[in-house]
Amino acid sequence: MRNTVKYYDDVDSYKTIMFLYKAALKEVGTKLDILNDEFQHVHRYNPIEHIKTRIKTPESIVKKLRRDGHESTIDNMVQYVNDIAGVRLICSFTSDIYRLAEMIGNQSDLKVLSIKDYIKHPKESGYKSYHMLVSVPIFLSDSVVDTKVEIQIRTIAMDFWASLEHKIYYKFEGNAPGYISRELRECAEMVSALDEKMLSLNEAILNLEAPAVTGIIKIPDAVQEKGQEVRRAYVGT
Ligand code: GTP
Ligand code: MG
Repeated sequence: MRNTVKYYDDVDSYKTIMFLYKAALKEVGTKLDILNDEFQHVHRYNPIEHIKTRIKTPESIVKKLRRDGHESTIDNMVQYVNDIAGVRLICSFTSDIYRLAEMIGNQSDLKVLSIKDYIKHPKESGYKSYHMLVSVPIFLSDSVVDTKVEIQIRTIAMDFWASLEHKIYYKFEGNAPGYISRELRECAEMVSALDEKMLSLNEAILNLEAPAVTGIIKIPDAVQEKGQEVRRAYVGT
């Protein structure tokens, strides 16, 4: 069995802890890049529009611990702050979110610690996103340390909404005027309607594409043969 240690048993400094979270972010980032490339290779399609990664600042860590009534200690930070290493995956369509979540869940070295599906169950604010808390093993010279990473998966439209809502939340410190919160909830519904419409439109386009394209750009056999002749002349095979 692998020599797995709890990181807070033998790591005593903030810097060492942050080194682990940075390493975890790199590991997960690389995994996601590979999954995206493989998907492109097999299906000629990228489920990930872009990836954002970030390490939580010390100020935000302390703020969160204080908010939840915990003392600012390394142990508490490791135990209670789940999003010190955070990855955000932005996709075009809602279907991509579930496809990615499944691919992530199938990675045998990642442990899925919890899932929150705020798409099926949006928050009171209107917030939608799919959250996965995973742990990834970090192989050090003399031990293996399982380190937590929070993965948020959402569409471009959901991301647009969340970043505006986040700004407003901060500006009013959680007490936005009623009409602003109401309008934000209305926008969240518009975002869901847009996501649904874009998904069905995309499916309609995919169903149309094959016959239309082959009909228009079918290359005549004679032209294909000529092309191969030219290629042989230049490349020699
Ligand atoms: P914290 O709220 O971060 O303590 O964590 P939690 O245990 O409640 O987890 P949750 O999955 O609810 O939220 C984690 C993260 O999701 C937050 O840090 C935000 O990045 C994002 N998030 C959650 N709710 C909202 C929301 O209402 N609006 C926006 N803009 N982001 C949200
Ligand atoms: Mg929360």
